[in-house]
Amino acid sequence: KKIVVLISGNGANLQAIIDACQAGDIQAEIVSVISNNANAYGLTRAKTAKIPTALFERKSYANNVEMDEAIAAHIEQLGADLIVLAGYMKILSSAFTAHFSGKILNIHPSLLPKYKGLNTYQQALDAGETEHGTSVHFVNAELDSGAVILQAKVPIFPEDEISDIEQRVKAQEIQIYPLVIKWFIDGRLTEMNGKAYLDGKLL
Ligand code: GRF
Repeated sequence: KKIVVLISGNGANLQAIIDACQAGDIQAEIVSVISNNANAYGLTRAKTAKIPTALFERKSYANNVEMDEAIAAHIEQLGADLIVLAGYMKILSSAFTAHFSGKILNIHPSLLPKYKGLNTYQQALDAGETEHGTSVHFVNAELDSGAVILQAKVPIFPEDEISDIEQRVKAQEIQIYPLVIKWFIDGRLTEMNGKAYLDGKLL
């Protein structure tokens, strides 16, 4: 099976997926790491792992739809089975999400449906939450709104700063994202009518 990973930045989740593929835990090959940001450190991680990279910059296209069409053509050409968003900080066009419906995963640092969008740590602190977390979900046209597959919770302590919570959440992300990807690659995870199923059982 073939995976493409879309990134914009650091790529800690990408690294966890690379490691899981190399270890054989995920029985798939990452055939391209795609970035919209030339300076993303994740591109260096990909090169170190000898994984092909592809750069799609917004400035090279007339609009978002054309940019996403170019990305879609690249993915089609590679024949990827799964598209993994790992810190890809650009909203995908509805044509793109519809085209690859049921084949796109994202990880979002909140306990969805709470705190969609940006600055989830600040949002959780401002709301006085005592816990926060991360969610792996299928991607649909609406931001951070597709069917949730797996979540991990972490505590928020009174003295916490954003960086404390972020560290705790990221430690969970690199555990749960490779696991969900393994489920998908093993054919255990599907999406139907906006709902997620594991081994045919509604999640
Ligand atoms: C992760 O926290 C993920 O939840 C969010 O973006 C961050 C990416 O981090 N979507 P990294 O690039 O994997 O280090």
